[in-house]
Amino acid sequence: MTIRIEYSNMIGEATGGIPESEWRESAPRFNGAFSGFERLRSAGTVGFVDIASDAALRAQSVEFADRARGRYDDVVILGIGGSALGPIALRTALRPSAWNMLSTEARGGFPRLQVLDNVDPETIAALLERLDLTRTLFIVTSKSGGTAETMSQYMIVDDRISKAGLPAAEHFVFVTDPAQGALRPIARQRGIPALDIPPNVGGRFSVLTPVGTLPAALIGIDISQLLAGAKEMGDRCSTQDLARNPAGIYAMLQWLADTRYGKTIDVLMPYSDPLRDFAAWFVQLWAESLGKHTPDGGSVGPTPLVALGATDQHSQVQLFMEGPKNKTVTFIAVKERAADIAFPRSFADVKELGYLGGHSLGELIDVEQRATAGALAKRGRPNLTIHIDRVDAHHVGGLMMFFEIATAFAGQLYGIDAFNQPGVELGKQFAYALLGRPGADAAKNEWESSPKPDPRWSV
Ligand code: PA5
Repeated sequence: MTIRIEYSNMIGEATGGIPESEWRESAPRFNGAFSGFERLRSAGTVGFVDIASDAALRAQSVEFADRARGRYDDVVILGIGGSALGPIALRTALRPSAWNMLSTEARGGFPRLQVLDNVDPETIAALLERLDLTRTLFIVTSKSGGTAETMSQYMIVDDRISKAGLPAAEHFVFVTDPAQGALRPIARQRGIPALDIPPNVGGRFSVLTPVGTLPAALIGIDISQLLAGAKEMGDRCSTQDLARNPAGIYAMLQWLADTRYGKTIDVLMPYSDPLRDFAAWFVQLWAESLGKHTPDGGSVGPTPLVALGATDQHSQVQLFMEGPKNKTVTFIAVKERAADIAFPRSFADVKELGYLGGHSLGELIDVEQRATAGALAKRGRPNLTIHIDRVDAHHVGGLMMFFEIATAFAGQLYGIDAFNQPGVELGKQFAYALLGRPGADAAKNEWESSPKPDPRWSV
């Protein structure tokens, strides 16, 4: 596996980056962040790095997927946020394009994978209409085992399954905390299989637990390679030597760029359609982990933004080039693609077409990535490129671990807890209050004393 971080365009004033002298002096700061994260790991508080080598956890997914082989045409994940974005990213990256539209033969007999990730009744009604329930497995994924969106999805589907006279134990599997939440007791009462999310792995860091590995294994992704790639990256990022620690470099660069040079927006721009949803997974990881109050009452956190190359060269790149100088851009460049198409040597006499003859689409997208990176640097817009050999399970596992560890280091640098999400709590409590959930009285009072819409400010 090769995952190489090329960050020349982040260093030096000419590219709008961090002055070299400042970068050279940043190692002690990284040492502090590294040690802080190590303390959390060795205390067992944070476990996402170690799951890459947890054979028993991997076996839960492999064994379930082996038993399920051939029994389902559709696998549907009921879940949201960290329970949904990882599986979507894995499907898009590691299965052929438009997987859910392929025939059973083209899918090698593996099922389609649908992921709800919302509670919009239009989508859910349409999906339930399409499914043959007798050939569908529902994975209910929730670390807390109590998230309103996921529980509501589950209640609706449970009702459909029971009205269809189908056994719950054959149409549901739960992925949840080993002890906490509502799903464990339901699983025990109804004989529904339940796989574990280790207690010390939170939602957005859980893609390499059965949250991601179960659906991945069910649709034929090689999860051993996924985890091996993650383990390899975990090992690379376990050195305190900043110059050799890829996730450390990424976190340190982004933190310096944000806190010292006003680069408050971190764009992730893969030049690869298979990595399109990977970028959405990164957005949740970076945003929900790092957007926090500091202990002294301040507010920190870079704003992640998704772009796709080359598509966004015709949408957002104008802003990146000439808009406010408040961004860094991280490209992901892919060396070998699963397919390439050569341009025919036609239209030789048409200036706009003829020069393409003899090149290929793979070359074009690669050249466009290099050209955009170079153009941004030339205009003082800092950027870096993550080079990977190919989009396969090994590299995707490595990339996921890279960004997860970088997030943990960045949390240390910002001086915040990257593993909680207190900011979403008030909205949740208000929703509970509005729906009459028991125990939401305090939230109900707070809601009722909140400012109400003023008709003067509505047209
Ligand atoms: O990263 C997180 O912890 C959150 O985004 C959760 O994944 C999301 O809120 C869903 O939570 P749960 O898995 O507990 O249902």
